[in-house]
Amino acid sequence: MTIIVTGGAGFIGSNFIFHMLAEHPEDRIICLDKLTYAGNLSTLKDIMDKPNFRFVKLDICDREGVYQLFEEEKPDAVVNFAAESHVDRSIENPSIFLQTNIIGTSVLMDACRAFGNVRYHQVSTDEVYGDLPLDRPDLFFTEETPIHTSSPYSSSKAGADLLVLAYLRTYGLPVTISRCSNNYGPYHFPEKLIPLMIANCLNDKPLPVYGEGKNVRDWLYVEDHCKAIDLILHKGRIGEVYNVGGHNEMANIDIVKLICHELHKPESLITHVTDRKGHDMRYAIDPTKIHSELGWLPETKFEDGIKKTIRWYLDNKPWWEEIISGEYQNYYERMYGNR
Ligand code: NAD
Ligand code: DAU
Repeated sequence: MTIIVTGGAGFIGSNFIFHMLAEHPEDRIICLDKLTYAGNLSTLKDIMDKPNFRFVKLDICDREGVYQLFEEEKPDAVVNFAAESHVDRSIENPSIFLQTNIIGTSVLMDACRAFGNVRYHQVSTDEVYGDLPLDRPDLFFTEETPIHTSSPYSSSKAGADLLVLAYLRTYGLPVTISRCSNNYGPYHFPEKLIPLMIANCLNDKPLPVYGEGKNVRDWLYVEDHCKAIDLILHKGRIGEVYNVGGHNEMANIDIVKLICHELHKPESLITHVTDRKGHDMRYAIDPTKIHSELGWLPETKFEDGIKKTIRWYLDNKPWWEEIISGEYQNYYERMYGNR
């Protein structure tokens, strides 16, 4: 198979490419990425010379460029990771989220239609379901939970999901959607909770916890997400949505304390700052469908995954130090300066 992986220079997309090259060496992988602030070519440096890998710098909204790539590569499948992915940035400036996450998705699917009804997988998020109350631990997101978004980011992802399902019904495009919970692991951009806290801890900087830090997220090691997408791509039923998550709910404050503990840093670094606007309280996935239909189960326990992740950030300081020494500093000042 020839597979176009969009957003492959980002966190999950790069981990997915490494997974696919290792598990399916007979496949050809084309990484299409615009290299926004979140894309990092150095992440892909070890695979750049592989004969079954090609990197193309391209915006998924660039219709002409995307069609030309389809003409050249004649892909069998597209897996769309490319997105603006950070909730806080979407609150600051929604428009690029609508452009990339919705318009970009439609351009990719139009190309799939134009070049022989190419198989299309949309990487979506549990955030499209909105949030759950903290005092109802019995509630979980299933694939039937109504879409009910909170942020411009989640709304743009929900808009894309609706378009994907419309392309199935209207044009018969062979699509699937996965909606995953919070990922963590190597190459996670240090604007997100876990890598930001690790980097700040290592630099003895304050650890900015939004509000009281009671918000709950359902954390999944990135490799487990990649395995789920691989399974859906090969064995998933066309037209279906699959929730992906590992029943690993943790409050933010407990994650931050755990990182302090693992890095032997004092909890006094923790600083409670103004809460995120519209902050979702709790996400929790019911993964029954993907387990019963495709046999998927998460393999990495959180206590092992977080240790591996912290080890990775310790061993790969140049990767994240280069990021936080650049434009990121302006972002950090804007986001946290007066918080
Ligand atoms: P990321 O921000 O780390 O990476 C996004 C990548 O997309 C970057 O390489 C960036 O350069 C590229 N990109 C952005 N706009 C583009 C455009 N217009 N054209 C081409 N490339 C573009 O994101 P991530 O955390 O790896 O998330 C990947 C996908 O998974 C997203 O669709 C996100 O919504 C979804 N998701 C993420 C999580 C999570 O916990 N991180 C969980 C569930 C779903
Ligand atoms: O649930 C899946 C989603 O998970 C993905 O769709 C998104 O792309 C991904 O960014 C992530 O969204 P979150 O908003 O949950 O992740 P983030 O790492 O930004 O924040 C996790 C929690 O930590 C959230 O409750 C906000 C809080 N937080 C975050 C940061 C960056 C803090 O308390 N302080 C911080 O500095």
